[in-house]
Amino acid sequence: MKAINTGRRRFLQHSALGTALAAFPTVLLAGSNSIKRTATVGFKADVEIEFISQPARIPILTNGPATVVQTYSAKLLKGPQQTLQTLPDNYLGPILNFQQGQKVRIFYKNKLSESSIIHWHGLHVPQYSDGHPMYSIEPGEEFVYEFEVVNRAGTSFYHSHSHNLTAEQVYRGLAGMIAVSDNDEKKLELPAGEFDLPLVIQDRSFDANNQLHYVRRMPERMIGFLGDTILVNGKPDAQFGVKSRAYRFRTVNGSNSRIYKLGWDDGTPLTAIGTDGCILAKPESRPYIMLAPGERVDLWLDFSGRPVGSKLVMYSLPFSGTLPIMADRGGMSMMRSRFPQGSKFPIATFEVVEKLGDSPKLPVTLVPFERLTLKDVDNTDAPLPIAISMAPMQPLLGGKSFSLDKVMDFERVKLGSIKLIHIYHDHAGGGHRGMGMQHRKGGEHGGMGMGGMNGGMMDMAHPIHLHGQQYQILRRLTDDVRSKDYETVKNGFIDTGWKDTVLVMPGEEVHIIKPFQDYKGLFLYHCHNLEHEDLGMMRQFLIE
Ligand code: C2O
Ligand code: CU
Ligand code: CU
Repeated sequence: MKAINTGRRRFLQHSALGTALAAFPTVLLAGSNSIKRTATVGFKADVEIEFISQPARIPILTNGPATVVQTYSAKLLKGPQQTLQTLPDNYLGPILNFQQGQKVRIFYKNKLSESSIIHWHGLHVPQYSDGHPMYSIEPGEEFVYEFEVVNRAGTSFYHSHSHNLTAEQVYRGLAGMIAVSDNDEKKLELPAGEFDLPLVIQDRSFDANNQLHYVRRMPERMIGFLGDTILVNGKPDAQFGVKSRAYRFRTVNGSNSRIYKLGWDDGTPLTAIGTDGCILAKPESRPYIMLAPGERVDLWLDFSGRPVGSKLVMYSLPFSGTLPIMADRGGMSMMRSRFPQGSKFPIATFEVVEKLGDSPKLPVTLVPFERLTLKDVDNTDAPLPIAISMAPMQPLLGGKSFSLDKVMDFERVKLGSIKLIHIYHDHAGGGHRGMGMQHRKGGEHGGMGMGGMNGGMMDMAHPIHLHGQQYQILRRLTDDVRSKDYETVKNGFIDTGWKDTVLVMPGEEVHIIKPFQDYKGLFLYHCHNLEHEDLGMMRQFLIE
């Protein structure tokens, strides 16, 4: 029996438990007067920041006019000076350097002409500080975030999260990097200061006047937006002058839908010391590393022993099979990016400009942590299903589109529990237009449902992101993948660390173990292909 069907049957068991949808206490929902606008008296902040989102003109391309963007700017009101690291002349927001244990208060002012809210992707914070779209504020309004940094050391990033505007707002610039440090990390004496650098990768398209070009029409949104200019840290043609020693590059895929297969031009393996907001137990080397939208990887790039003048180019290497079969065969000629998904292109050039005698050595162990196993979860027999489907023109989760005020039965999770979750492609596309139940019962693989007719054809890779605490990847079931394509990506997954976003290839089923601790409330999970997210490929857990 195919794994994917097993998963689907489990989903059926869940939804058969009665009404699939339940309303929850409205007290959890922010009405316009429950949006938090003032500081809590008892919350003693170590760090206070004023954040503003606003339109701006920023020079991005080297020649010609500046580009109209949306950008975050920030001012440190209280706390250590290095908390904010502004990137001059950049649409990216400032880098936020937090330390574990800090209490943070952020006064966010929206000076855009549309609604917006900020999500701290990777940080484990209370519901009201998580940037749930229900907290979107209107132009001129203010929102107050308060949270303690409970995360371990690692790299995260923040971005706008206003439903149906997320993709375009992130595209126009509303994003930035977060670095959290803690004592375990300090003991490792990893490269720091000028040797600890961001590598935020994004793709954009510019028109003849250097203005950002974004498309909001189908079927481009169905695939996801692909730009034809690769930007690193907000600039094209990235060049790094490096010294002949080891660096830490905090690599963030901040693109809407582009997946990168990071690799050196000369075939040198890449070494990771962290994934998605946490340092690994030990370094992991791979011939290449896959990085889907929303994912981060902390790279240990060692230039020691390389002579001054030597150049290394980091590429996105060729891969296939992440798009629906039709689109991948070039059938979708409207997808006119200079760099189709999976094509080869350079990302950044590193040139050794100075010789150093000494370099820190790659530690043998980093920050050990316990691997979660099935013994830790309380639902081995009833895994929570995250069922991906691509109904015509509608990517869905659990056969449902996003709604602010709904959860399905299985989406109600007890605070403190640790759950097994199966993420899989639901070829019968359950629930679409209310026809799902029968179809899901009747149709095996690619059955008769609305979604089923093109389930297999429309299968594509989805980076599935869960808000709240990071999770661990238990296993990937690959019986149903297209092996020729899978071969081109499979050595680039780093599944040994803590993750909050995982790329699920067509036909693949990924089992994860996620703790739901610390905070009650509504926490989103969604596809981090931002066009998919905006199209409704987002649901939420109610932790109670
Ligand atoms: Cu970076 Cu809800 O996402
Ligand atoms: Cu997130
Ligand atoms: Cu998706």
